[in-house]
Amino acid sequence: MIENKVILSAPIQGWTDHVWRTAHAQVFGGVDAYYAPFMRVEHGTIRRRDLRDIQPENNPDIHVVPQVLACKASDMEQMLQAVADMGYDEVDINLGCPHPPVARKGYGAGMLARPDDLLQLTEVLSHYPTVRFSLKLRLGWDDASQWRNVLPLLANAHIDHVVMHYRLGVQQYKGEAMLECIDETLEAIGCPVILNGDIDSPEQIKALLTRHPRAAGVMVGRALVAAPALLCPECATMAHYSDFHDRLYEQYRQELTGGDHQILNKMQSLWERMLPDAAPRARKAIRKATSLARYEQAVAQLFNP
Ligand SMILES: Cc1cc2nc3c(=O)[nH]c(=O)nc-3n(C[C@H](O)[C@H](O)[C@H](O)COP(=O)(O)O)c2cc1C
Repeated sequence: MIENKVILSAPIQGWTDHVWRTAHAQVFGGVDAYYAPFMRVEHGTIRRRDLRDIQPENNPDIHVVPQVLACKASDMEQMLQAVADMGYDEVDINLGCPHPPVARKGYGAGMLARPDDLLQLTEVLSHYPTVRFSLKLRLGWDDASQWRNVLPLLANAHIDHVVMHYRLGVQQYKGEAMLECIDETLEAIGCPVILNGDIDSPEQIKALLTRHPRAAGVMVGRALVAAPALLCPECATMAHYSDFHDRLYEQYRQELTGGDHQILNKMQSLWERMLPDAAPRARKAIRKATSLARYEQAVAQLFNP
């Protein structure tokens, strides 16, 4: 879209899993890399579904960057070892998760207010000298200068780039992204910075990257889930959307073993965000469907009215 700038697909827990990423890359593309939703350690082991989600065979022919969420060095070590064993040489560190129970314990954006813990956590990165690390962070937990706590770390740990979501943790996803802070972050951070937060059109991407030529690119999240053809405008056709849907549906039917109800729930939850402007009656029928047969009828009504 713009020479020498990258466009990244943001991790969205519950949406941009390997099924979505693979179908998206096959049907729409326009993305340089897909950042996977975070993996984490629970009760001493990495959640099995997190590992399955990033297994290379579940992500055929796509550029995936695994993401880890940790507040203890031992958890970080365990996850980095697991992703390195799978052959990944790029890993993103989550310093942006705003979920209060998680952040209060020092995970995600909560870590931004704890510079000493942050340094300890990232010391582990030096055990993996061949891995390219990135940090995905917010401006801060409750103060828009806390991102400066990562600056010493950028110099010491080998951080390849930073993805900045221009909100505070306490804002969750509300309020506007503070794009007015872009320039100060670009000036102070000594490695490439990717802009993130409320980016929702190719025009906005061009305008942002023209206004901030030092930015290395953008990361797009919710807008890409809502409009999967966002970065491939010529793919914004019913035929493409239908193909995309069918790939998701097929794959979830194969992978979700909890019965029709689970598959229906999964598909209906995708439709909460996907194609919000599509035929309202058909969307309503999709949301209200109580069986897969009814669901399929409603989807057919939407794609082949
Ligand atoms: C439901 C939901 C789940 C998310 N999961 C993750 C995640 O696993 N890791 C992460 O770094 N960011 C996560 N994010 C944040 C997004 O990656 C992104 O930074 C944020 O939504 C702002 O970008 P956007 O306005 O383009 O969506 C999540 C956001 C939402 C709304």
